Amino acid sequence: MSIMVTGGAGYIGAHVVRLLQQRDQDVVVVDDLSTGRADRVGDATLVELDVAAGDAQQRLELVMEERGVTGVIHFAARKQVGESVQRPAWYYQQNVTGLANVVAAMETVGADRLIFSSSAAVYGMPDVEVVTEDVPPQPINPYGETKLVGEWLIADAQRAWGLRAASLRYFNVAGAGWPELGDPAVLNLVPMVLDKLELGERPMIFGDDYPTPDGTCVRDYIHVLDLAAAHLAALDYLDAEDRPESVFNVGTGRGGSVREVVDEIGRVSGLDVTPRVAERRAGDPPRLVASADRIADVLGWTARQGLPEIIASAWEAWQAGPRRIG
Ligand code: UFG
Repeated sequence: MSIMVTGGAGYIGAHVVRLLQQRDQDVVVVDDLSTGRADRVGDATLVELDVAAGDAQQRLELVMEERGVTGVIHFAARKQVGESVQRPAWYYQQNVTGLANVVAAMETVGADRLIFSSSAAVYGMPDVEVVTEDVPPQPINPYGETKLVGEWLIADAQRAWGLRAASLRYFNVAGAGWPELGDPAVLNLVPMVLDKLELGERPMIFGDDYPTPDGTCVRDYIHVLDLAAAHLAALDYLDAEDRPESVFNVGTGRGGSVREVVDEIGRVSGLDVTPRVAERRAGDPPRLVASADRIADVLGWTARQGLPEIIASAWEAWQAGPRRIG
C-alpha cells in the first residue's frame, strides 16, 4: 500500500512527503521536475513524469499498479496567477487535463482516495470578513478557474464511481518545516521581500490605501508545515464511511497585513525593511481570511503556528538556500 504524491518534489509537496515518511508510509513521488527538485524527496521513489502529457494516464496506471498505490495527493500543477492570464489554454491543459489524467488512472486501477490542492483563488474577491466554504466561488483569473473546475471534476467522480476525496483550499502559504525545504521561488510576498533585501533594495508594498486597518492588504498566512499536516488529517478522514464534507479551507482564521509581514521580517532579520509603497497590483482583494471552522470541526485540524514562526522559519530557510527557482 503506498501513497502517490504528484508534485512531491515541490515546496508544499516535499513537506507532505516528509511527514508521510515520518509515519512510515510508503511514498512514490511523481514530478516532472520543472520546478521541483529531486533532492527534496529523500529516499522516496521518484518517477519523472508530466501528469498533463499525452501518455500520462497510461504511465500513471503502470506506476500505481507496480507500487500498489491506494491513494493520491495531487499537487502537480501551475500556480502563477499572472501567467495564467497570459496563457489560459496552457493552464487548463496543465491543471485540468493533468488532474483528469490522475483521476482516470485512479479509476482504472481502483485507487479510490484523493487529496487535491485547491486554492483560496476560487473565491475571487469575496466581500466578507472571513470566507466560509459556503461563500459562492467566483474566481477572477484562469488559475482560480482551473482549481474550481478541478473541484467539480472530483465531485463528479465521487458521484460516478465512489472516489473518496478532499479538496483543500489553501490560503497564503509560507515558511519552512525544515531549512532545506524553503520556498525557492520568488513569487509571493515573503520571498519577494527577502529577495529585495538580499539585493540591497527596499521591499515593495503594492498599495497602502486599501480599506483595511493599516491600509495594506490582509491575508491569512499559514505555515507550510501546518498545511502539510492538514493533508495527513484529510487522508485519514477518507477512511471514514461518513464524510459530510469534501471541500475545506486551510487557513488560520486570522488576518495579517502586508505591513505586518514586512515588519516581522525586519524584526527577525535585523535588517532595515523600510518599504517602498507602489501602486496597487491588479486583482488583489483587500482582505482574504479563511474561516477555519469546518476543517477544525470535521478533520480535527487547526494551525499551530503563527506569523512569528512562519517568518522565522522562512528566514532560516532563505539563508540556507537555494532560491530564485520557478
Ligand atoms: N505584495 C506586496 N509586495 C510584494 C509582494 C506581494 O505588497 O512584493 C502583496 C500583494 O499585493 C498582496 C499580498 O502581498 O496584497 C500577498 O501577495 P502574494 O502574491 O504573496 O499572495 P496573493 O494573496 O496575491 O496570492 C495567493 C497565492 C495565489 C492565490 C491567491 C488567492 O499565491 O496562488 O493567494 O488565493 F491565487
